[in-house]
Amino acid sequence: MSDPQRILVTGGNRLDGTIRVGGAKNSALKLMAATLLAEGTYRFANVPRITDVALMSDLLRATGTSVDWDDSAAPILEITVPATIEPVAPYELVEQFRASIVVLGPMLARCGEARVALPGGDDFGPRPIDMHVRGLTELGVEFETKHGYIHASAPNLLGARVLLEFPSVGATENLVTAAVRAKGKTVIDNAAREPEIADLCELLNKMGARIEGSGSSTISIEGVEELHSADHTVIPDRIEAATYLSALAVAGGEMTIEGARHDHMVMLCQKFGEMGMRISPDADGIWAFAGARLRASDCSTLPYPGLATDFKPFLVAVLATADGVGIVTENLFAGRFRYVDELRRMGADIDTHSHHAVVRGVERLSGAPVKAHDIRAGAALVIAGLAAEGETVVAEAHHVARGYDDIAGKLNALGADIRVE
Ligand code: EPU
Repeated sequence: MSDPQRILVTGGNRLDGTIRVGGAKNSALKLMAATLLAEGTYRFANVPRITDVALMSDLLRATGTSVDWDDSAAPILEITVPATIEPVAPYELVEQFRASIVVLGPMLARCGEARVALPGGDDFGPRPIDMHVRGLTELGVEFETKHGYIHASAPNLLGARVLLEFPSVGATENLVTAAVRAKGKTVIDNAAREPEIADLCELLNKMGARIEGSGSSTISIEGVEELHSADHTVIPDRIEAATYLSALAVAGGEMTIEGARHDHMVMLCQKFGEMGMRISPDADGIWAFAGARLRASDCSTLPYPGLATDFKPFLVAVLATADGVGIVTENLFAGRFRYVDELRRMGADIDTHSHHAVVRGVERLSGAPVKAHDIRAGAALVIAGLAAEGETVVAEAHHVARGYDDIAGKLNALGADIRVE
């Protein structure tokens, strides 16, 4: 896989046509981790070809698992898990992507122990794992941290009632994947409701797990003695689809996003509707139209089904050229506003105060050299570049490749002018 350095966007073009959304990164990574629960061969369709999937493949290989692409027909990711695995997630891989922490639950369930390096990942503030640890402790897991590694052990996982302080996606996933093999029943209250969690639970049930309530805030898991391998198709990536809708919002035009699930992004579609776009589900995915300059609107991020924190950089980029003032409030991650400095370099009028951004729309941004600090911030700068006069050069584009398979090619197919170096 190539490692792009820079994305060069020449703004001003309308976007028209049809684009196809890929499989959800944040689902595929968790499904891959879940394979560690049982020996056998798994065949996953609609897995995106992105850097994070390559990293998770390497992480699985470090346990003794084999991971290969089968490109004979529609691409399939084939994973073969051996009878015994090494329950270790090495630092060299974990420090590159935070999602690696989700191997903790499957390793504990399968081996009764796990050694996982403390996670790194995106550059937006501290991202603790205290809720994972507290929840798993309720299931009987003991933790020790030494030499930069979490050593977790649980010779006998026991079902329990766990109340999460916040509906954390990763903590819910680690709890579910540990509880599927625990003795007795586990109930997770205030569980995360993201579609990616429901997708993971669907795979787990195909593997023989007994999970009810996924997609709601109470998930019940009846532990089972044995699990087996299964095949699965990854759900479409709602964050990628949101990226294209945001691109349309700033550039104008008419677009069909094939494969996208409107029911997974209702709040965002509603918000864009308020701002003046027309968006509706259709047989192939989502249809959208953006005519005149959009109106500003206030936005506040919340756990699903609220406006996702991942949409926020896109919304700020859209508001940067909308008519009026929009206040954007971040309720999930502290300090996730670094890209605002980059947008300012493009002429955006944005003030940040603690977890709020006040965005005063300007008629036009101006292309400038900017830097991607994380996946979504990088995509937001590409979106802003589409609305800018002249050329925007987004450096550190490898961040974007972590979550997008050919963002430039897809947007160019709609009329954008983007080059990748
Ligand atoms: N949190 C804690 N303690 C914990 C766990 C989380 O304080 O033990 C805090 C986090 O620091 C954060 C909030 O709770 O402030 C939400 O974190 P959550 O655990 O829900 O997020 P995550 O599982 O680490 C996933 C996605 C993120 C997405 C968030 C929120 C993956 C691989 N990552 O992260 O996606 O922003 O949920 O929806 O699924 C991305 O795709 O670019 C991305 C960063």
